[in-house]
Amino acid sequence: MADITNEMRLILAKKAWQARENAYAPYSKFKVGAAVLGTDGKIYTGCNIENVSYGLTNCGERTAIFKMVSEGCTEFVALALAGTEDASQITPCGACRQVMCEFCHSIDETEIILAGKDGQMIIETVKQLCPRPFTKFKSQE
Ligand code: THU
Repeated sequence: MADITNEMRLILAKKAWQARENAYAPYSKFKVGAAVLGTDGKIYTGCNIENVSYGLTNCGERTAIFKMVSEGCTEFVALALAGTEDASQITPCGACRQVMCEFCHSIDETEIILAGKDGQMIIETVKQLCPRPFTKFKSQE
């Protein structure tokens, strides 16, 4: 697991729930928020953004990660995800798992925090969520 404090996990969870308020989900009505802690020490947030052409939808996790990358930080050490009051009812989709593999600081240690409304947190590593990612062209640096 990553070397982050429980206090930081709770801050990320709160920011993910706040970001969820901005979710644009008129079609599914399923709102999602995410908050990532970059290796630069900054927190980047995102929400799901749907489109009438459904396949163009961007998940909350990818919005937050892409915002981080677009601001010049290419690695994160933890990501909190807020979707359902019960933390056990939300989990990242396959596309987001592959994107997490691309930008996580450490596949074995970077934490994905599934954040419930009541402070409940289920913590999994990127490796647990995506045990065998596609890496053929990925830089080993
Ligand atoms: N969604 C996310 O944003 N993240 C997840 O982890 C699961 C699904 C979004 C995509 C779509 O806008 C809505 O939830 C229903 O699938």
